[in-house]
Amino acid sequence: MKNMKLTMNNTQLLLNQKHYQVYIKIAICLLVIWFTYHFYSSTSIQFSSVIVTNGDHKLPPPLPPANPTLFDQFPVNNTGIPQGSLECDIFTGEWVRDRAGPRYTNNSCNTIEHHQNCMYNGRPDTDYIYWRWSPFGCELPTFDAKLFLQYMRNKSMAFIGDSISRNHVQSLLCILSQVEEAIEVYHDEEYRSKRWFFGSYNFTLSVIWSPFLLKADIFEDNDGHSSGAIELHLDELDSVWVNEFTNFNYIMISGGKWFLKTAVYYDNNTLIGCHSCNKENVTEIEFNYAYRKAIRAVLDFIMKSDHKVYTFFRTTTPDHFENGEWNTGGYCNRTGPFKSGEVNMRDVDKTMRDVELEEFENAKELMNGSVLRLFDTTRLSLLRPDGHPGPYRAFHPFDGKDRNAKVQNDCLHWCLPGPIDSWNDLMMNLLLQG
Ligand SMILES: *[C@@H]1O[C@H](CO)[C@@H](O)[C@H](O)[C@H]1NC(C)=O
Ligand SMILES: *[C@@H]1O[C@H](CO)[C@@H](O)[C@H](O)[C@H]1NC(C)=O
Ligand SMILES: *[C@@H]1O[C@H](CO)[C@@H](O)[C@H](O)[C@H]1NC(C)=O
Ligand SMILES: *[C@@H]1O[C@H](CO)[C@@H](O)[C@H](O)[C@H]1NC(C)=O
Ligand SMILES: *[C@@H]1O[C@H](CO)[C@@H](O)[C@H](O)[C@H]1NC(C)=O
Ligand SMILES: *[C@@H]1O[C@H](CO)[C@@H](O)[C@H](O)[C@H]1NC(C)=O
Ligand SMILES: *[C@@H]1O[C@H](CO)[C@@H](O)[C@H](O)[C@H]1NC(C)=O
Ligand SMILES: *[C@@H]1O[C@H](CO)[C@@H](O)[C@H](O)[C@H]1NC(C)=O
Repeated sequence: MKNMKLTMNNTQLLLNQKHYQVYIKIAICLLVIWFTYHFYSSTSIQFSSVIVTNGDHKLPPPLPPANPTLFDQFPVNNTGIPQGSLECDIFTGEWVRDRAGPRYTNNSCNTIEHHQNCMYNGRPDTDYIYWRWSPFGCELPTFDAKLFLQYMRNKSMAFIGDSISRNHVQSLLCILSQVEEAIEVYHDEEYRSKRWFFGSYNFTLSVIWSPFLLKADIFEDNDGHSSGAIELHLDELDSVWVNEFTNFNYIMISGGKWFLKTAVYYDNNTLIGCHSCNKENVTEIEFNYAYRKAIRAVLDFIMKSDHKVYTFFRTTTPDHFENGEWNTGGYCNRTGPFKSGEVNMRDVDKTMRDVELEEFENAKELMNGSVLRLFDTTRLSLLRPDGHPGPYRAFHPFDGKDRNAKVQNDCLHWCLPGPIDSWNDLMMNLLLQG
């Protein structure tokens, strides 16, 4: 029903003079590309759109039919308008039944971290893996691992952020492993930053652990036990990713939940205040002040760098602890998605996302050779309370225990396979749009 309504809206839009001209232009453009395609029947996929001119960002360029598989993926209507790329916000939609199920399992993918390996850990329900994200008004084709790797030939991509970034990269690795098993070529001491290489495609994939993206002194072990307030330098970027930045052609970067932690803030090496540290004579500063400074510094650095890069800027990811927080007995035992409108974003998520959207809009103006794309997964993730490990972050958590025994729940990360797999469909869709 909603789809029908949207189609009608599109038709009305077509009558609008301005839009009509745009469609005509696109049709002509497609025709030109079609002829070009016939002249150069190269099988390799050209992906030169990393360098775009700072023109009209509102309208993504039409999908070049550069490869027959693209045609299968994006059926082109006889109007000449490729579906899935125009006049559609791929981040607004609903979760729909997917009988096909996930593209990998705990058996086919051997790189799933234990805490997210819900199948292996004995999660009893399986309904949560039979959903896919469906934007209103357009088709979102499923991620094509082969096509992605062809795009990434001779390229390097990095996921930069916290453990949610690691969660995402694992999902990507599992899907890509159907085409080629990556070789791990690097990991740091704590196994939080890693690098893989896909030999047949000369493609390097990295995940870089930098939860604040800024220079930060963190006094916390791997289990989250803290022995002192985090010291955050609001005017200095984290060298762990900055030093490697020029190696990357694509990055997926994000901030998030770490900014809610107790931290002492420094600017120009001077203590300016802190967030919930309750120290005498230290000014309390809201986390969103630090968050805005961080996001602004990061996007500013990327956009002004001489090194040109295609950047996905991911918005914050919501958690689904109910009846408590992560450390006060909160849990997430729902077994199906919400419909939109059934759940509201929490204040902290809304605050973070608002900062992200505002800073993204500002940074977009600085685009000069690099590409900046908003990867706005907050709302679609909010609809999936069923996709978290919950108690199944641990192996068979209730073995030998009462079903109501108190165990640690994880309602922030995502089961693999799980809803986060859809993020790759979205990523592919944006890549194809250029
Ligand atoms: C393409 O065609 C299908 C059916 O032929 C229609 O449902 C859909 O709305 C069309 N899409 C666009 C973007 O025109
Ligand atoms: C995958 O999970 C199932 C339970 O769903 C388990 O029986 C199987 O041993 C697991 N496979 C691996 C390789 O861990
Ligand atoms: C990848 O690099 C090799 C060696 O430099 C080159 O021969 C090949 O054409 C490149 N392929 C693409 C798709 O850029
Ligand atoms: C691999 O890609 C790099 C660029 O990232 C290029 O310099 C190199 O020549 C490529 N190697 C091969 C064997 O294609
Ligand atoms: C940073 O602090 C130094 C002295 O510690 C001062 O000279 C400099 O002007 C300050 N820079 C800014 C931008 O405030
Ligand atoms: C806080 O400031 C007051 C007044 O300046 C001072 O007397 C007190 O010693 C300070 N406390 C600490 C812990 O620095
Ligand atoms: C755009 O980037 C080029 C190359 O890095 C640089 O020379 C130029 O000054 C930049 N323009 C602006 C307005 O920043
Ligand atoms: C979730 O857990 C609560 C508290 O243990 C229980 O009341 C509720 O029935 C559970 N819901 C589901 C869907 O299992």
